[in-house]
Amino acid sequence: MNVLLLGGAGLLGSALRATVPADVQLAAPPHARLDVTDAAALERGLDLARPDWVLLCAAYTAVDRAESEPEAAHRLNAQAPALLARLCAARGVRVLMPSTDYVFDGRGTRPWREDDPTGPRSVYGRSKRAGEVALFESGAQALVLRTSWLFGGQARSFPRTMWERARAGQDSRVVHDQRGSPTYAGDLARWIWALLSLAPTGVLHAANAGVASWAEIAERVYAAAGRAQGITRVASTEYPTPAPRPSYSVLDCARLDALLPLPRRPWGAALDEFLSELRAEGAA
Ligand SMILES: NC(=O)c1ccc[n+]([C@@H]2O[C@H](COP(=O)([O-])OP(=O)(O)OC[C@H]3O[C@@H](n4cnc5c(N)ncnc54)[C@H](OP(=O)(O)O)[C@@H]3O)[C@@H](O)[C@H]2O)c1
Repeated sequence: MNVLLLGGAGLLGSALRATVPADVQLAAPPHARLDVTDAAALERGLDLARPDWVLLCAAYTAVDRAESEPEAAHRLNAQAPALLARLCAARGVRVLMPSTDYVFDGRGTRPWREDDPTGPRSVYGRSKRAGEVALFESGAQALVLRTSWLFGGQARSFPRTMWERARAGQDSRVVHDQRGSPTYAGDLARWIWALLSLAPTGVLHAANAGVASWAEIAERVYAAAGRAQGITRVASTEYPTPAPRPSYSVLDCARLDALLPLPRRPWGAALDEFLSELRAEGAA
């Protein structure tokens, strides 16, 4: 299978590159060589790689900065998927685009299902939702894979920041009234590779099992760093951010479980694996 990965240097893209199955021929041109907002560059990339699938991991992911840069977020998260999907539809190429729990308003009380009404509250969430809609309107065979609270690898992520603060002897005040499903990029990458041969379309939710608040994640990281008392739980109102966050964004992953025989491990076990990697980095 030929796969074209766009955004391969990012958090998820790096995990995908680290887990490529033997039967996949992967082309992963860097941003400098293929800008996903450039139609001619996309056409060249598609004609060169002749992919069965495009994995569109290039995205505008600075959730708070997006509030003051809505055009940039929209260009990358909505216009680029629309452009790519049109080109893919014309060539019979399948497209997978990760999306986010932030397309929901966060006011639910049970895990969000794929067909629940969306209601993004931030510029980032609205731009990702517009990208989802554009993909489905393009006529391409498209899969939108919504995930949440990613961590792993060398990229910046919440657990990595907490680890670095704990190791530097800094305490942290962390919100405890937002709940979601943390997801290890390595696990998500393996699910993605397994899904490609099944060629599903539509929307799929994919996250590690279980529910956590940001404070619970931070407490596990601090405990692993030997500073169990370093976290103070606070309310979101005490930690205002430019972009509003959903207070409940747990994803219902039953559709993924029905498709893949792989067990989805709990977020805590996945986080422990990442913490071992962080420990090994420190020892190196
Ligand atoms: N991170 C999360 O917690 C999270 C949660 C839910 C969903 N998601 C979704 O998962 C996907 C991957 O996220 P991520 O965290 O892996 O993102 P990321 O680490 O921010 O990586 C984004 C990648 O896109 C590249 N890029 C940016 N502009 C580009 C352009 N014009 N042309 C080509 N490449 C460009 C970046 O390259 P440069 O660095 O060179 O610009 C970077 O390699 C996104 O769709 C995101 O919305 C992420």
